[in-house]
Amino acid sequence: MNKPRRMDKRDLRDLISAERIEERIRDLGKNITNDYAGCPELVVICVLNGAFMFTADLVRHIDLPCRIEFLRASSYGNRQTSSGKVTITHDIDIGKRHVLLVEDIVDTGLTISGIIAELRNLDPLSLRVCTLLDKPSQRRVMVSPDYTGFTIPAYFVVGYGLDIAGKFRELPYIGVYRP
Ligand code: IMP
Repeated sequence: MNKPRRMDKRDLRDLISAERIEERIRDLGKNITNDYAGCPELVVICVLNGAFMFTADLVRHIDLPCRIEFLRASSYGNRQTSSGKVTITHDIDIGKRHVLLVEDIVDTGLTISGIIAELRNLDPLSLRVCTLLDKPSQRRVMVSPDYTGFTIPAYFVVGYGLDIAGKFRELPYIGVYRP
């Protein structure tokens, strides 16, 4: 009997090139820099794991003093649909600071709204969301990011930090996973 083959790049269809991502991040960085002009310290919170690459590139285009923090949120496991249960772990002090949450993708909205609810309890001066990707057609809770890189259809995408079962995070572009 043939063994099932491992996932690889043949299972992907290109969606957003590395060049388009770079260009868009440059614009996002400019907009954020303008919107927070004069802010003495912007607390940028990277939502792990998926937003690690986006955050690293984005902060290089934000021309403001930043404090970069990390928060872990998980709701998917190895599946392609949200479990609806969001687990959040962090150790961040954001009292009376402007906070920018950086997400890889907003899908049902459950993860980001769970994080927002948790961080609001910490009394930030302001709290905004910057997401690389948005899939608004999948929303189960009302949430609209303040900054969005790309709005996409209800595809399952990987690359540029996003994964399926831990694979494809390292790719510099975004592809649709189609086994
Ligand atoms: P939500 O809670 O349904 O909005 O899902 C948000 C989280 O699910 C993201 O931070 C991702 O980790 C994951 N996710 C949602 N859609 C995708 C996708 O298309 N590819 C990879 N991960 C996804």
